[in-house]
Amino acid sequence: MNSYRIEKPFALVIFGASGDLAKLKLFPALYSMVEQKRLPKEYYIVGYARTKIEKEVFQKEFSDSIKNHFKKHPKDLNEKILKDLTSRVSYVSGQYNKLEDFKNLRKYLSKITSNKEITTLAYFSVPPQVFQDIIENLGETKRHENEDLRLILEKPFGEDTESARELFHFVARYFKEENVYLLDHYLGKGAVQSLLHLRHSNRLINMMMKGPEVSNIQITAFEKIGVTTRAGYFDQVGTIKDMVQSHLLQILALITMSIPITENAASLHREKYSILSALKFIESKKNIVLGQYESYIEEKDIPKNSKTETFSAMRLFIDRESWYKTPIYIRTGKKLHEKHTYVVVELKKFAFQPKEEEPNRLIFELQPEERINIRLVNKQGQTSHYQEITTSDTLSCTGDDCLPEHAMLLLDVIRKRRLHFLSFEEIIATWEITDTILAFIEKSKLKPEKYVDFSPGPESQDQLTSIDDFKWFDIH
Ligand code: BG6
Repeated sequence: MNSYRIEKPFALVIFGASGDLAKLKLFPALYSMVEQKRLPKEYYIVGYARTKIEKEVFQKEFSDSIKNHFKKHPKDLNEKILKDLTSRVSYVSGQYNKLEDFKNLRKYLSKITSNKEITTLAYFSVPPQVFQDIIENLGETKRHENEDLRLILEKPFGEDTESARELFHFVARYFKEENVYLLDHYLGKGAVQSLLHLRHSNRLINMMMKGPEVSNIQITAFEKIGVTTRAGYFDQVGTIKDMVQSHLLQILALITMSIPITENAASLHREKYSILSALKFIESKKNIVLGQYESYIEEKDIPKNSKTETFSAMRLFIDRESWYKTPIYIRTGKKLHEKHTYVVVELKKFAFQPKEEEPNRLIFELQPEERINIRLVNKQGQTSHYQEITTSDTLSCTGDDCLPEHAMLLLDVIRKRRLHFLSFEEIIATWEITDTILAFIEKSKLKPEKYVDFSPGPESQDQLTSIDDFKWFDIH
């Protein structure tokens, strides 16, 4: 397989280089890119953060976080590659809101690149509160209007519709949209990308997934971990903002959108937007379930009276003729019995089929397994039972082409491929529906129901699907 290799030199500046996101995701992604020989001969990685530390200290943090990533399989780590990669990493300390510090950063970049003009990627691995400072200072220190400076902003984009709009207007003052990459790491997952390719190349599957054929859709994203070290952030947002607003609504859009004729970014964004802007939440307590795991309020830095939801399930609709009356159920939560992300598309039955007969199902498992599964009802004797017509690992990437999400997406930025990034409009549309749901929760004073740690979540989630006479389909 001929994997893509970058030829042109580039510099990657990571803002918030001492944070969790950089350590857990970005640094290991860079290692995998080097290991798979995707990077050019000449590239520079510069960490930028407020902490004043020496380059060597940062290099150690960088290298330790990669080692940590391999702690379960230390033999898979190639020390030589790690050493070479680490030796190319450097560090600049500075504030995010000080123009002087950005001028220093610019000088430093010019120095290490011998004043050559190369592509610069600015990765925002920082809380959204400092996005604007960085954008402004980067904008103010541009070499010239056409400098090849690409911004990579990772979710969350703002904290509601208004702040997201404000952020995008702000970015637009300094940068053209084509230089801004809005990243949701779910779109870098191999299985999520396969969803698109699979739908794009299979008429059969698309025929099954058309609104009039589908009785309901279920999207599940369960996690075993709790809030971990991100209590401060998570307690402010909860699962609806943290997981549903971007990751799960993106999956919903990829499953339900019309197939764009070309796989180009603009047409894909248009189709996703068309779904996302038509999402509807019917305001009723019946349509939403909130939960909180029992030990949540004992977690470090979580207030004892916190009402933040660590589990949410909701019933949505798409206001389009073709999806009229097809409920879409979404559920996600932390500290549950398993880590599992999957989508179940249940197909309609014939009017003459008995009520108790199972429907045909199309199942997309996104993680940890990556596979599509078509389950068709087949009758044997007097009983009807499932026969799995297809079970395959079609959704997994194979061999050389597999890279972690952030590596896939970084490569895309370097190649100027926007397909797996978000558009401003999509994000605004997902915030609008999120705000509607959150406003309803507040208005109706809904409180989360406690659930046992490592259980399948609050029992009342079943009431959501039973409104329409359906049941959650759990994959074991
Ligand atoms: C992040 C959320 O965006 O996604 C986390 O902030 C969540 O709370 C994570 O744990 C889940 O990502 P993944 O790739 O492990 O499913």
